[in-house]
Amino acid sequence: MNVLIIGASRGIGYELARQSLEGGDTVYAAARGQTGIARLKDLGVNTLVVNTADALGCSGLSWGIDGVRFDRIWHVAGIFGPRTAGVDPPVQQDFDVVMHTNVLGFMRLVPQYFDALADGGRIGVLSSKMGSIGLRNSPSGWTYRASKAALNSTVKDAALVLGKRGLVVAFHPGWVQTDMGGNGADIPVDRSVADLRRTLDALKPSDSGSFFNHDGQALSW
Ligand SMILES: NC(=O)c1ccc[n+]([C@@H]2O[C@H](COP(=O)([O-])OP(=O)(O)OC[C@H]3O[C@@H](n4cnc5c(N)ncnc54)[C@H](OP(=O)(O)O)[C@@H]3O)[C@@H](O)[C@H]2O)c1
Repeated sequence: MNVLIIGASRGIGYELARQSLEGGDTVYAAARGQTGIARLKDLGVNTLVVNTADALGCSGLSWGIDGVRFDRIWHVAGIFGPRTAGVDPPVQQDFDVVMHTNVLGFMRLVPQYFDALADGGRIGVLSSKMGSIGLRNSPSGWTYRASKAALNSTVKDAALVLGKRGLVVAFHPGWVQTDMGGNGADIPVDRSVADLRRTLDALKPSDSGSFFNHDGQALSW
């Protein structure tokens, strides 16, 4: 299979690249900086430079993957932003960076994903249970929560446009031991990624436009 991963310099994105390569896939992995690109070159995958936080950083994807059709696309890039406890207003710059990186980046890239998607291809978008309104019982990190709730909304819209050509879903990867999740998180990154890959493969076409835990359990928006 041809696999594209956006936000692959470290954490879940890097592990997706590693496991996909190990599984025999042809992997195109994007990072925004030279350190990430160097790590991915060392891993042995095709590299692309994509920064989801700005228009120029998103615009280069199409020509970097020109002519390649992808069976799996993983949209992983994301930042947490201010680690607030209550309803402390974020400063505008923090708000803008989180929203641009986590939401606007996906909105800018999704038409390019659709152009590059093989017939029946599948897109997994790394959201978070923290974005769920139905499951919410804490306001901590409310800027991040708002960004993932907005991302979930755009995943639903993307599924409506994609129709039967393929599948696009939002995922909660678990609380994962990465730089974002921290060492005290619930699960190691290799287990989360193994689950995510297995679950995306196993979903039914009618599951498009829904929200899933890494293990395949359906989640409330
Ligand atoms: N870890 C968890 O417990 C957890 C839970 C729920 C959801 N998630 C979601 O899962 C995804 C991956 O999380 P993670 O734990 O692997 O986080 P991480 O270890 O902090 O890695 C984040 C990745 O996103 C990339 N990134 C950030 N901003 C970017 C931008 N503007 N353009 C391109 N790439 C960018 C980073 O690249 P750089 O190296 O260049 O910064 C890095 O590769 C995120 O969307 C996160 O919200 C994680």
